[in-house]
Amino acid sequence: MNPTEITEEQIKMKVFPFSLKDSVKDWLYYLPPEPEKARQTLLLQSARSILNQSAAMAEEAEVVKNKQVVLKNYATGFVKDSDFIIKTDSTMSLKVPESSSKGVLVKNFYLSCDPYLSFLMQKSDSSLEAQFSRFSLGSTINGFGVAKVVDSRHPKFEKGDLVWGITGWEEYSLIAEPDSLFKIEHTDVPLSHYTGLLGMSGLTAYGGLFEVCNPKKGEKVFVSAASGSVGLLVGQFAKLTGCHVIGSAGSRENVHMVLYCRVDLLKNKFGFDDAFNYKEEQDLDAALKRYFPEGIDIHFENVGGKMLDAVLLNMRMHGRIAVCGLMSQYHQEKPEGLYNVASILIKRLRMEGFGVFDYLHLYPKFLDLVLPQIREKKITYVEDIAEGLENGPAAHVGLFSGRNVGKQVVLVARE
Ligand SMILES: NC(=O)c1ccc[n+]([C@@H]2O[C@H](COP(=O)([O-])OP(=O)(O)OC[C@H]3O[C@@H](n4cnc5c(N)ncnc54)[C@H](OP(=O)(O)O)[C@@H]3O)[C@@H](O)[C@H]2O)c1
Repeated sequence: MNPTEITEEQIKMKVFPFSLKDSVKDWLYYLPPEPEKARQTLLLQSARSILNQSAAMAEEAEVVKNKQVVLKNYATGFVKDSDFIIKTDSTMSLKVPESSSKGVLVKNFYLSCDPYLSFLMQKSDSSLEAQFSRFSLGSTINGFGVAKVVDSRHPKFEKGDLVWGITGWEEYSLIAEPDSLFKIEHTDVPLSHYTGLLGMSGLTAYGGLFEVCNPKKGEKVFVSAASGSVGLLVGQFAKLTGCHVIGSAGSRENVHMVLYCRVDLLKNKFGFDDAFNYKEEQDLDAALKRYFPEGIDIHFENVGGKMLDAVLLNMRMHGRIAVCGLMSQYHQEKPEGLYNVASILIKRLRMEGFGVFDYLHLYPKFLDLVLPQIREKKITYVEDIAEGLENGPAAHVGLFSGRNVGKQVVLVARE
């Protein structure tokens, strides 16, 4: 509370913040008898001085340097390292200011590199995109991460709690509205997993596959961008359900070795039934016909564009398509069109977009499914950890050239 906001009326009614009320009671006891008006004036002065003192004490809270990743240029085309700047001259008081009624101050440990961040770095005024809250120039990048609570004024969180959710790309973050922060209850798994497997990617894979597509044993499932954080999990969840799963993955055309490792990785480690390199296929329709001679029941779309168009031709009757992301389109000035829309009509397809925020309420149910699978090593998960906040921009840029193997994480600080 700002001391100057205390009114004469509040003094008269003795309506104070709790701690101040106690002090005021003491003064009332010690104050010499005076006419009522003088007594009120004295009280008002005392109240203001006490609040000024506590404001000064708050200022004395430990202040630390706070390295930050800030947006330097709006992204055009593919996002570049030079669109970010590392700011090293900021500081942060390690106390939540009294003005923040439910703020939480956290020390960040891990940050998640997610394709949607590039989208938020673009400047756009189209009506569709206006629904998203973009980063402004000079603002700190925000995204999913794992952190520890350093100070809290929120009833749900206390100092020392480990949390995951939206935080800043910086060493310390003051989260004014921590409603989408989750307390981490299970620490027998690596903390970094809460940036992906046990965080946004896992819940996205779970919501998109089980809620949108409702898979059944024996169904044929195709996952694009299958080597990514979401795709790897969709494939494994579908396999656990008894589906036949094929993934597509790629790499830069001229890095064949990495590319074959990738495809091998999908086939061997994660138990996909098969996988192909979309960049080696001249004709995506023909490739899908080769892998799905009887057609696709479920398609989990992470890529969009030509891949989605080819998938439409290969869906079976009453097939389901979960539109999770459009990796191939985010950097395009003019998105690619779809030509095979008639398949949706003819084959009675259901194509449904979704956002992970639609399924936040399912998080406990998701944990019930996934934690035992992780403990029994029935789900494997690969993380690509870039060490140091200053390496965050390059790690993020790498998502669009397929530089990462598995979930791209940035390590800001060790616990
Ligand atoms: N709806 C939601 O709430 C939600 C939540 C999370 C993610 N998503 C979306 O889901 C998709 C996957 O996310 P993720 O977290 O798994 O991403 P990720 O871990 O960064 O993996 C994405 C992968 O996409 C592939 N890729 C990159 N550019 C491509 C292109 N032009 N065409 C085809 N593939 C390309 C790369 O693998 P290769 O090199 O192997 O091709 C890359 O590793 C993204 O579109 C993302 O925006 C949506």
